[in-house]
Amino acid sequence: AHVVTAPCNDCKYTDCCVVCPVECFYQDEKMLYIHPVDCIDCEACVPECPVEAIYAEGNVPAQWQSYIQLNADRCTALADKGHITEKQDPLEGPDCKKK
Ligand code: SF4
Ligand code: F3S
Repeated sequence: AHVVTAPCNDCKYTDCCVVCPVECFYQDEKMLYIHPVDCIDCEACVPECPVEAIYAEGNVPAQWQSYIQLNADRCTALADKGHITEKQDPLEGPDCKKK
């Protein structure tokens, strides 16, 4: 599966969820998450993210390994109410660093 990591925090550009063929993105107030069972590893979302927050599970940088479990846990907890398939206004808060 693919995983949303720390750079999404406080950014939430939401370009990723629009291109996902299986609609497996979920959100809370801080960031987006990918459902690990539903993701088919198509990689369409990876280049869409302006802050390079999305990685294949096997390529998640060491400091963000905890995000693998976090994506799974948050998708379960958020369920239908957190499902997101359309672009929203980004947060672009103070901790968001566009590359
Ligand atoms: Fe969706 Fe493909 Fe990204 Fe997985 S890799 S979240 S299936 S767009
Ligand atoms: Fe987050 Fe990047 Fe998507 S900032 S919402 S992973 S486009």
